[in-house]
Amino acid sequence: MIDIHLLSAAEARAVSADLCEVLADCVNGGASVGFMQPYGTADALPYWQGVADSVETGATLLLVAVIEAKVVGTVQVGAAQMPNQPHRGDLKKLLVHRSARGKGLARLLMEAAEREAARRGKTLLVLDTATGSDAEAIYPRLGWERVGVIPDYAMWPQGGLCDTTVFYKRIAA
Ligand SMILES: CC(C)(COP(=O)(O)OP(=O)(O)OC[C@H]1O[C@@H](n2cnc3c(N)ncnc32)[C@H](O)[C@@H]1OP(=O)(O)O)[C@@H](O)C(=O)NCCC(=O)NCCS
Repeated sequence: MIDIHLLSAAEARAVSADLCEVLADCVNGGASVGFMQPYGTADALPYWQGVADSVETGATLLLVAVIEAKVVGTVQVGAAQMPNQPHRGDLKKLLVHRSARGKGLARLLMEAAEREAARRGKTLLVLDTATGSDAEAIYPRLGWERVGVIPDYAMWPQGGLCDTTVFYKRIAA
């Protein structure tokens, strides 16, 4: 049984231990999502505290996938944009724990993120992901358009530069 939820800031803080586990597992599994190895769950806590604060202000929509009362996947929409682009959202940090992959969680999270973004008047979503990653192969399956590649954009968590691929998706408000 998979449940997808949009979290309040208080709910985000209450499940921060699970969120730390998911992020640390993804970084240690080789995902280029902002952090370098070695990366433990304690390292992830300040990041999730910041996300909860951002949820509190309404700047971030935080969604989670729950299996048996445990958060095993998550995604965010950055909803606060400059005054000339209120219709845009930034899709961020689609993360599924390695133990829960291949069950359709990413698809469910992305569909829910789109619905929540659309409910807030967003008509365009943008994301970037490490070129050559598992995630890069998934977004076109979910209806995202590939824009192109920026070379040497970030680093793999074990070191070494990686390119990033930019995607966008128009959604119905
Ligand atoms: C990318 C990630 C979120 C996918 O999570 P998941 O829950 O296993 O994905 P799903 O099971 O929902 O699969 C979604 C779709 O992608 C396909 N897919 C899944 N893994 C794939 C892979 N490695 N290569 C190609 N396609 C893949 C699935 O078949 C499915 O397609 P379908 O619904 O049309 O059948 C997960 O691998 C992950 O957390 N990776 C590390 C973090 C990361 O890189 N995040 C991206 C940051 S931008």
